[in-house]
Amino acid sequence: MKVLVTGGAGFIGSNFVLLLRRARPDVEIVNVDLLSYAGNLENLRPLEGDEGHVFVRADVADRPAMERLFREHRPEGVLHFAAESHVDRSILDATPFVHNNVLGTQVLLDLARAHGVRRYLQVSTDEVYGTLGPTGAFCEDTPLAPNSPYAASKAAADLLVRAATHTHGLDAVITRCSNNYGPLQFPEKLIPLMIANALEDKPLPVYGDGLQVRDWLHVHDHCTAIWTVFEKAAPGAVYNIGGESERTNIQVVKLILGELGKPESLIRSVKDRPGHDRRYAMDARRIRADLGWTPARRFEEALPETIRWYLQNRGWWERVRSGAYREYYDRQYGGRVV
Ligand code: NAD
Ligand code: TYD
Repeated sequence: MKVLVTGGAGFIGSNFVLLLRRARPDVEIVNVDLLSYAGNLENLRPLEGDEGHVFVRADVADRPAMERLFREHRPEGVLHFAAESHVDRSILDATPFVHNNVLGTQVLLDLARAHGVRRYLQVSTDEVYGTLGPTGAFCEDTPLAPNSPYAASKAAADLLVRAATHTHGLDAVITRCSNNYGPLQFPEKLIPLMIANALEDKPLPVYGDGLQVRDWLHVHDHCTAIWTVFEKAAPGAVYNIGGESERTNIQVVKLILGELGKPESLIRSVKDRPGHDRRYAMDARRIRADLGWTPARRFEEALPETIRWYLQNRGWWERVRSGAYREYYDRQYGGRVV
């Protein structure tokens, strides 16, 4: 079988491609990525010389380029990871989110249909459901109520997938996962940002009171869930994927500092993110009951293991944190962190 993976040079996409090539060498991968600021070919270095993996640099919203790609490679499945993925960037400028996340999804849906793709999988997020109070959890039937421009663009994409199934009969499925962590994550997201700042003895910017709650899912667990859904789900199905690891942000930051032996005096409470969602939690009973998937990694062990990865791969994140990253950091945190 041959599948098209989009966004396979980003955090989750590259972990997915690396794992799938190891676990299922019979599945050939065409990996398309625009190599935006978050895309990094260095992530794919272990696949150099692997004839079962072909990398193509292109924009998934570029219809002629995608048309050529579908014609040339004839994928039987599509797994769509590519997206602008960071809430704070969507607050600074939402336009790339509409282009990449909404238009990009529609182009892929159209071409999947036109070229007789057997299954399309949309990688979505819990953020499409909005925010929760102190109790309860999102289930797959929770109405979509996105709050950030990022979440709104992902919800729009989910609705386009739903429409392609309902109207055109495309065999498409959607996965909605909670916050991922693990190796190769761009250090603009909470966990790698805090690890990298702590290692450089820089301030750790915690938004507001730091009592917002996220459910942490190890990226390898997310990847196995995606492949399980791709292979086993019924057409049109939607599955939540959770990590069973709810933590407040301040708990996570303190765990990182403790693990690295750095002082809590590095923590700075900074101005809150506008429209900041208070709590996400996933009811993931459906994927367990239907497909038998549960997360294998426990946060208590997998967070220290992730921290060790950033310690051992300092060159990776130091290279990433140069150039354009510095401009972003100054724009996002300038005047907030002292
Ligand atoms: P990422 O930002 O690390 O990677 C995104 C990748 O997509 C990059 O390699 C980028 O170059 C590529 N890309 C962006 N626009 C593109 C375009 N128009 N054409 C081709 N490639 C393009 O993001 P990630 O954290 O790996 O997220 C992957 C997917 O998972 C996204 O759809 C995201 O919404 C979803 N998701 C992520 C999380 C998380 O915690 N990281 C949680 C829930 C859902
Ligand atoms: P993030 O990793 O951006 O993921 P998301 O917003 O998609 O959940 O942020 C996770 C949580 O950490 C969120 O509540 C915002 C908070 N946060 C900070 O407090 N400081 C930061 O510098 C960042 C990037 C995030």
